[in-house]
Amino acid sequence: MKPVLSVIGTGYLGATHAACMSSLGFTVIGIDNDAAKVAQLSRGELPFYEPDLENLLRAEIASGRLTFTTDFSAALSADVHFVCVGTPQMENSLAADLTYVRGAITALAPHLKSGALVVGKSTVPVGTAQALAAQLSVSAPHADLAWNPEFLREGFAIEDTLRPNRLVVGVTNDRAEEILKEVYAPILELGTPWIRADLPTSELVKVAANSFLATKISFINAMAEICEAAGGDVTILAEAIGYDPRIGNKFLQAGIGFGGGCLPKDIRAFMARAEELGAQQALEFLREIDAINMRARARVIDVVRSMLTSDLTLYKIAVLGAAFKPESDDVRDSPALDIAAQLHAAGALVTIHDPKAMASAGKRFPSLNFAESAQDCVSGADIVLHLTEWREYREIDPVHFKTLVKTPLIIDGRNALDRKKWVAAGWTFHALGRKN
Ligand code: UDX
Repeated sequence: MKPVLSVIGTGYLGATHAACMSSLGFTVIGIDNDAAKVAQLSRGELPFYEPDLENLLRAEIASGRLTFTTDFSAALSADVHFVCVGTPQMENSLAADLTYVRGAITALAPHLKSGALVVGKSTVPVGTAQALAAQLSVSAPHADLAWNPEFLREGFAIEDTLRPNRLVVGVTNDRAEEILKEVYAPILELGTPWIRADLPTSELVKVAANSFLATKISFINAMAEICEAAGGDVTILAEAIGYDPRIGNKFLQAGIGFGGGCLPKDIRAFMARAEELGAQQALEFLREIDAINMRARARVIDVVRSMLTSDLTLYKIAVLGAAFKPESDDVRDSPALDIAAQLHAAGALVTIHDPKAMASAGKRFPSLNFAESAQDCVSGADIVLHLTEWREYREIDPVHFKTLVKTPLIIDGRNALDRKKWVAAGWTFHALGRKN
């Protein structure tokens, strides 16, 4: 008999995990205290955009294996419980807010049957799992706790869940590892590397991976600053260093930097935790990584001012892209939306377009102006800013777009457009980290 699974928290991570585990043949109960979200998911509607996930969700609900509820007592029928709730940045500090994780364990504890395994997937500060295990040993001594960080990228959520680069499990005994091996058997059969660790190491793997990725992006953005100062070209530099397999060519795309629900908050929470541990010096460099990242946004605004005038009042600025990256409608800490909001605050008349993220962007910044299409967005613009590299924008015909704008000025904030084509069409084209 396959173990029955519950997934606590049905946001991005939880909804994906629940649908994917169901697709592997498990009975999965998704539990969330947000009744509206549960109702929506039960109807087969995804509360966010993720390629192919809504189809998978519908198929799994139709199979009868996947259900959603607000009732924690439903957990009683499950053997393994994946905790997938959010750990956002606290409002008044860099640290992660653990309210939801603690709340999930407290709500779950009375409904754990003997031998149940609680598996944390949320990204947490190191030491959290051990503290939660201590909490469970009092409230549900017959249950066990493990940690199993997720590494899924938005836009590739299904792929990263069903075909991950590796599976990492933090466990305190062999039985917990055996249960997790059984749950992940179909994925292990694909040859996926399996890494057993202790609880703190498994928590650290996640934040270390995200810190490394953030470092790579800020490194190339620092090189972009140098290239601009020295008259070099960061895209050629990135290609050239990327051929060294020790460096690799991924995550070296210079531009307006990283955003989203993970990288920015994870590096900040990591610094905050290191300070609590008295090891802050070890992560001092992350402060600089964060600063370089935020500077990339400020640099775009400086370029806008240099291309127009320092007083931006009443200039019409078209912003293409609001999501923090393409194939997502997520605007959490989105560099594109942040830049748009700053330009708006500086008095410019900003119009934004995004293929998927208009609703989420509108909710965050209701005072901003949104256009139904990229063409409407740039109509009459004094300058166009390309800030999220959707395929739709790469396929724009610059000759046609030149007829729509007031002045053919464009800043490519993602180094993703074909500069030759735009210049040939008569645009003044500014790219970050390149000769302009
Ligand atoms: C990230 C991690 O990749 C994933 O493993 C983890 O589980 C969650 O956090 P995600 O937030 O979906 O995933 O986005 P990712 O693809 O990593 O991109 C993060 C940000 O970096 C985006 O804003 C993207 O535009 C930016 N980025 C990425 C760059 O600016 N340059 C690059 O070369 C790569």
